[in-house]
Amino acid sequence: MQRHVGILTGGGDAPGLNAVLRAVVKYGVGQRGWRLTGIEDSFNGVLATRMRVMELTPRSCKGLLARGGTILGTTNHGDPFSFPDDRGHASDRTAQLERNLAQLGIQGLVVIGGDGTQRIAWRLMREHGIKVVGVPKTIDNDLGATELTFGFQSAVDCVTDALDRLHTTAEAHDRVLVLEVMGRDAGFIALHGGIAGGADLILIPELPWSIERVCAKIEERRRRGRPFSLIVCAESAHPAGEPALPGRAGVRVIELLKERLPRCEARLTVLGHLQRGGSPDAFDRVLATRFGVAAVDFVEADRWGEMVSLQAGAIVGVPLAEAVASNRTVDVDGDVMRAARAVGIEFGA
Ligand code: F6P
Repeated sequence: MQRHVGILTGGGDAPGLNAVLRAVVKYGVGQRGWRLTGIEDSFNGVLATRMRVMELTPRSCKGLLARGGTILGTTNHGDPFSFPDDRGHASDRTAQLERNLAQLGIQGLVVIGGDGTQRIAWRLMREHGIKVVGVPKTIDNDLGATELTFGFQSAVDCVTDALDRLHTTAEAHDRVLVLEVMGRDAGFIALHGGIAGGADLILIPELPWSIERVCAKIEERRRRGRPFSLIVCAESAHPAGEPALPGRAGVRVIELLKERLPRCEARLTVLGHLQRGGSPDAFDRVLATRFGVAAVDFVEADRWGEMVSLQAGAIVGVPLAEAVASNRTVDVDGDVMRAARAVGIEFGA
């Protein structure tokens, strides 16, 4: 009997989502003979009055490898256990989801998403018996169960490019330029982007910073004839003794700098969604392809309830229950931090 599998992308987008879809189409449909139905906008496509789904075939999926975003669309508001109606009232729509999947003849789902989406997938399997295979995704790279997620490297490339550009203008004007980057709960993008882009200071949420140390580094550079500095600040970084303030991390650095060093010209750049848009880089295209192919293998082997993951450089499966249990933060004593410190990068803590 032909397998009929559904596939969806949930949560914030990440470069490489389309590359995963392409791999699943090429291998699952092209070689394993599946029927593959794409569900639009996370789980929402099967909860709409007129379901929004599309048949995915090698023909209909040309040119996806390098394309950013996701052809299926995605949303952060797609939790079927707490689904908002037009008036904003949330209700549990999982019974309808189960009926609609059965009506479409979908036997199982490949769910590409971050921790929130994988948690929903796990609950759907546990509470409703809906078969799922997970594929992890986040530019933040903070999922505990996989050492890397696609999208992260492309985001780091974007930060690196921004720092290269800021470097020349900072040097020309003798300024302190602060670059605020993404990373909701973890500082991986700031850390890796900061090292790659030659930042002088990197501020991450794992190490609350002190303005005294930040200023000391800027002054020390000035004394060495380097009257400009580049600071990378994760969006969730915060001074010691203050809470993380979403949307204000970079602003706070500038405020405190201006208080302490009134003569220093400091400017803020918030990189924002530039880090999520555009083409995946070569590394992410390869990782996304490997994840997509592994997801097909897992379905073929009836390894439902597992999430594909990268561990010690190899693709393995992790039970979804385990995969959603822990997030990762930067190991402040790890070798990446050590290398950063060894080349003179200051963390302000
Ligand atoms: O988790 C990925 C991420 O890009 C975070 O780095 C960031 O805090 C958040 O999503 C932004 O979400 P939104 O696009 O909903 O503003």
